[in-house]
Amino acid sequence: MEGLNPHSVLVTGSNRGIGLEMVKQLAKKVNPPKWIFATCRDPEGPRSQVCRRDLKNLAAQRQEVVIIPLNITDPSSIKSAVTMVTERLNGSGLNLLINNAGVACRDSKIETQTPEDMAEVYKTNVIGTMMISQAFLPLLRKASQDSPKKGMSCSKASIVNMSSYAGSITEVYLWQYGWVVPYRCSKAALNMLTRCLSLAFTEEEILCVTLHPGWVVTDMGGNTAELTVDSSVAAILNLLSRLSEKENGTFLNWEGKILPW
Ligand SMILES: NC(=O)c1ccc[n+]([C@@H]2O[C@H](COP(=O)([O-])OP(=O)(O)OC[C@H]3O[C@@H](n4cnc5c(N)ncnc54)[C@H](OP(=O)(O)O)[C@@H]3O)[C@@H](O)[C@H]2O)c1
Repeated sequence: MEGLNPHSVLVTGSNRGIGLEMVKQLAKKVNPPKWIFATCRDPEGPRSQVCRRDLKNLAAQRQEVVIIPLNITDPSSIKSAVTMVTERLNGSGLNLLINNAGVACRDSKIETQTPEDMAEVYKTNVIGTMMISQAFLPLLRKASQDSPKKGMSCSKASIVNMSSYAGSITEVYLWQYGWVVPYRCSKAALNMLTRCLSLAFTEEEILCVTLHPGWVVTDMGGNTAELTVDSSVAAILNLLSRLSEKENGTFLNWEGKILPW
């Protein structure tokens, strides 16, 4: 993980779960980024209550950690977050954008799946992620242009999308545990979005990957999941330190294994 040396990182959905743990582990690094933008939909809201103290304590102790309100489905919230981040960066670009925020869905049979559930999950996991990537693109471009380093890396300019193996069309991972059709479809679409981003920005040397964090103990993953949140995040940050243009546009698990689309 010490090979991961971005000047600035932004994590969406960082009030709890995998996002919060990413912020914690980045801040604990021997050489932490100068800026860790810990963005949350509603930093003062009820859903942040349990972990808010964690994040606020961290932000109070570590000047690198800046809490920024950001609802990834709300264009005006995105606009103000971009303004706040741009001000802090003061002329520098953003090196690493981690699109972690996501929602699951009720499990139900195909016959009882509702258009509302499908649309809600798609709106966050796909459209929200696209809007965030668009909004922060000028800062990612700036980071890439200003970097003296050749090639691609997460320390230079990168978009990391938190997907799920549940979105693999080949494997249809954990089908027996739940069909969660809207969630699977949204993550398959997110994977395609990542492929498109990677192709669109190859020449500008912005690395884009889509990751499965493992089945992780969080509110979403539940208590019977296979991996603790700290071991998943430690492995992911390690992986990010190793990525280069060879992995651009790929779908990887937390250990760096290539997954089938
Ligand atoms: N846990 C697993 O086993 C697992 C497996 C595969 C993939 N993943 C993926 O990993 C990512 C993180 O999962 P997790 O387990 O940490 O989930 P989690 O504990 O349910 O946390 C989800 C995070 O996303 C945020 N979020 C949701 N909608 C948002 C919006 N519109 N704007 C801003 N933030 C929003 C939540 O904020 P609020 O508190 O405001 O709701 C929360 O911070 C997700 O993309 C998930 O699909 C997780």
